[in-house]
Amino acid sequence: MAGVVFDKVSKFFGDVEVIRELSLEVRDDEFMVLVGPSGCGKSTALRMVAGLEETSAGTIRIGDRVVNDLPPKDRDIAMVFQSYALYPHMSVRENLDFGLRNKKMERAEIDRRVGEAARILGLDAYLDRKPRQLSGGQRQRVAVGRAIVRQPAVFLFDEPLSNLDASLRVQMRAEIIGLQRRLRTTTIYVTHDQIEAMTMGHRIAVLHAGELQQVGTPLAVYEQPANLFVARFIGTPPMNFLRGRLGGGRVTGAGFAFDLAGPAAGAVGGMDGREVLVGVRPENLRDERPIAGRPAATVRLRVELVETLGYEVHVHGRLGDALLVAKVDPHAVPPVDAEVDLVVELDRLHLFDAASERRLAQ
Ligand SMILES: Nc1ncnc2c1ncn2[C@@H]1O[C@H](COP(=O)(O)OP(=O)(O)OP(=O)(O)O)[C@@H](O)[C@H]1O
Ligand SMILES: [Mg+2]
Repeated sequence: MAGVVFDKVSKFFGDVEVIRELSLEVRDDEFMVLVGPSGCGKSTALRMVAGLEETSAGTIRIGDRVVNDLPPKDRDIAMVFQSYALYPHMSVRENLDFGLRNKKMERAEIDRRVGEAARILGLDAYLDRKPRQLSGGQRQRVAVGRAIVRQPAVFLFDEPLSNLDASLRVQMRAEIIGLQRRLRTTTIYVTHDQIEAMTMGHRIAVLHAGELQQVGTPLAVYEQPANLFVARFIGTPPMNFLRGRLGGGRVTGAGFAFDLAGPAAGAVGGMDGREVLVGVRPENLRDERPIAGRPAATVRLRVELVETLGYEVHVHGRLGDALLVAKVDPHAVPPVDAEVDLVVELDRLHLFDAASERRLAQ
């Protein structure tokens, strides 16, 4: 077992910097998810840990070894790719034991490990099949099995579920979480899917344009996004934003004036006149009556679109220039063009500096 440490790691392709001074500590036994939009550098970061890409600057440690100059086979990692990369002409058993045979491991130990992986992953019945005789989910399991049998210090997953359909993805997500809990192997898992990140990671690290934005537990990142990018990226439907100005313990803008409450109130003392973006999550913009004892304000929205999901309904409506989304009671859906009064939970507001886009109140 071992943690993984990125210490001011940068990566250039030619003169383009695609990872900038990434510092991140993945703890021993931890399930860390690297999440961010396409092209932000997730795979590159992972491939540097695996030794498939050179590191341009900084150091990467696995356990207490600096691995920058170690070849991939000496790093004690196992990587699972999006394209399972199975050997098509080999059976499932041969795919699973190939790496171990190459290491000249004893047959009895190989059989023990392959047997155990097959059992954990429910592949016993398929050991003699070829990959083309398996479903996508089964192939994915073989790819994971190949990583397990090596009993590495670190698992690296690069979007391993994105080729699967939605329901299988949910199932494999649960399997991978269970597997990691059982094996307690340090894991770095890359995805662009924020739901996957939120549901799988002990902690998540949000990357944008090669720069680390925030690291924390899923809940901490959700409740206290460090900047506008993270606030927009994590959460569905995304957080709403209103442009406003601070003054006298309130934030005021087109169509609204909110008294500041909760942590925000204390944190913005002395900032009167500052331009801010007020973030309101759709679930904190509600069609119910205010909860007694919780500070609330009311805003009036003109409904433009109603999305019914069954378990909840999203109402899109206009307030001044801003288009807001609210989650409302599925049994009391307003018609399009109606005006609705919605409650804003003032102790759940997020405030961001309009210029720096950083969170103001912690
Ligand atoms: N071999 C390469 N040569 C030049 N540029 C590269 C190379 N590999 C990646 N890049 C660039 O580096 C940036 C980061 O790529 P990377 O594959 O790490 O992104 P990603 O976050 O994994 O994206 P995705 O979610 O689409 O897989 C991108 O702008 C990409 O075009
Ligand atoms: Mg990638």
